[in-house]
Amino acid sequence: MTVSSAPGKVYLFGEHAVVYGEPAVPCAIERRATVEVVPREDDHVRVRADDLSLNGFTVEYEGRTGDDPDVDVPRPLVEAAMGYIDAAVRQARAAAEAPAAGFDITVRSEIPLGGGLGSSAAVVVAGIDAATRALGEPLEKRELADRAYRAEFEVQDGQASRADTFCSTMGGAVRVEGDDCRTIEAPNLPFVIGFDGGAGETGELVSGVRELRERYDFAAETLATIGDVVRNGEALLSEAIPETDPSPELLADLGDLMDFNHGLLSALGVSARSLDEMVWAAREAGAHGAKLTGAGGGGCIVALDRTPESRTALEFTPGCQRAFRAELATEGVRVE
Ligand code: PMV
Repeated sequence: MTVSSAPGKVYLFGEHAVVYGEPAVPCAIERRATVEVVPREDDHVRVRADDLSLNGFTVEYEGRTGDDPDVDVPRPLVEAAMGYIDAAVRQARAAAEAPAAGFDITVRSEIPLGGGLGSSAAVVVAGIDAATRALGEPLEKRELADRAYRAEFEVQDGQASRADTFCSTMGGAVRVEGDDCRTIEAPNLPFVIGFDGGAGETGELVSGVRELRERYDFAAETLATIGDVVRNGEALLSEAIPETDPSPELLADLGDLMDFNHGLLSALGVSARSLDEMVWAAREAGAHGAKLTGAGGGGCIVALDRTPESRTALEFTPGCQRAFRAELATEGVRVE
């Protein structure tokens, strides 16, 4: 049996603008998806998934990957998760040149599904890692990140950036600009996350921003300004001492940039009442800064705060289903 885990992520800065070639800085968070793989004698893939959402549910799914018409169709959320697992299995089989490899797979995740925290990327990264190890062909991290990206690209019909899968593979803070992905040094950032229980439609939100950008020069300038916010944020991180607690001054400066970034995303129409309410609740409770994370429209916000107040405030915010702390995960994918 092989077991691997990989972390989810938040965008400290830069979502949406990254689609137009600006840099973005996603950060891995200490909330992980864990995938256990046992090779089978036949070519079947049997998946058991526990707690794929914070509400938790258990489902068993048996089928063959590929074009087999006899695959059971489980409920929609599970079906989506299974799509990612199928894609991960296809990548692992290709990487290990074992097209008929079968597996019993168990998935556990502490990352809410579909809320912009990179749950699918974490499952895909941990799944490819565990399956290639089970076949005796472990992948080097860059190749693993690339295969995980290809799996997401396939499931999401070409609407995937490399940010989620690269961040989940490498851990820590990363910088993504087009196809150029690299890890960057960062202090221990004290993230607080608020989740409204829903999810935005990434494709629709990205198209909406594209239309605004084509119609108005000031929308294009807004996206370029997000790029400037990201570059300022990167400069702050590079001056900090890695893997130490950040100074109050650094937290205040990063927080200001997060607030600015949220305002620009809001101007582009990708926030939502639930997200704005959570952002304001966190700020009013003393967070250094707060912004939506990911595509927006619903899902999660991320705030920066070392004290418990903003989490408590989020828990009492109407529209917030769940609030939790999540430190920066310095480790990406790992063997458990
Ligand atoms: O919601 P997420 O975590 O999939 O992030 C989407 C980020 C966007 O910049 C809006 C789109 C992208 O692919 O980069």
